[in-house]
Amino acid sequence: MKTFIFIAICFVFFLTTALLQPDPDFEASMERGKEVYVMHCQSCHMANGEGMGTALPPLAKADYMLEDRARAIKETIFGVSGEMVINGKTYNGYMPPININDQETADVLTYVFNSWGNKDKPFTTEEVAKVRADHSN
Ligand code: HEC
Repeated sequence: MKTFIFIAICFVFFLTTALLQPDPDFEASMERGKEVYVMHCQSCHMANGEGMGTALPPLAKADYMLEDRARAIKETIFGVSGEMVINGKTYNGYMPPININDQETADVLTYVFNSWGNKDKPFTTEEVAKVRADHSN
């Protein structure tokens, strides 16, 4: 019985430490993504992702962005204009295409989707490449 309890405790211990271990790939992508964000997005969407006024929409807890990953990739690569409703507010602005590669796009969206209260799985370069291919011709 004692051995059983000992083994059970060990098992729970290993399991929790394994689960609480930060994922090094995710951490690295977040780091790189933050740099891309500062360089290519922050001037419009602001450091806290809250946007500005009626022209620059938020990325922080943005229902519109969080509901469609592929659309967010497309808008980041190719830009976007026209009406969009984000958290109940209508925006009708213009975002230019952002000239970054698949790795930078995956990193910056991993950062954006996991900052300021947002939470989602990381973006992969495959996911970005697929959207790029679907929309470029
Ligand atoms: C020159 C300013 C500018 C820059 C730089 C910029 N954006 Fe935008 N972004 C906008 C505007 C304006 C809109 C809204 C367009 C509309 O109303 O149709 C927008 C919309 C978006 C949206 C969809 C709407 C939302 O807020 O949920 C996403 C996602 C987004 N941008 C991500 C990014 C990312 C990621 C970067 C950097 C790689 C970036 N943007 C750089 C101006 C900018």
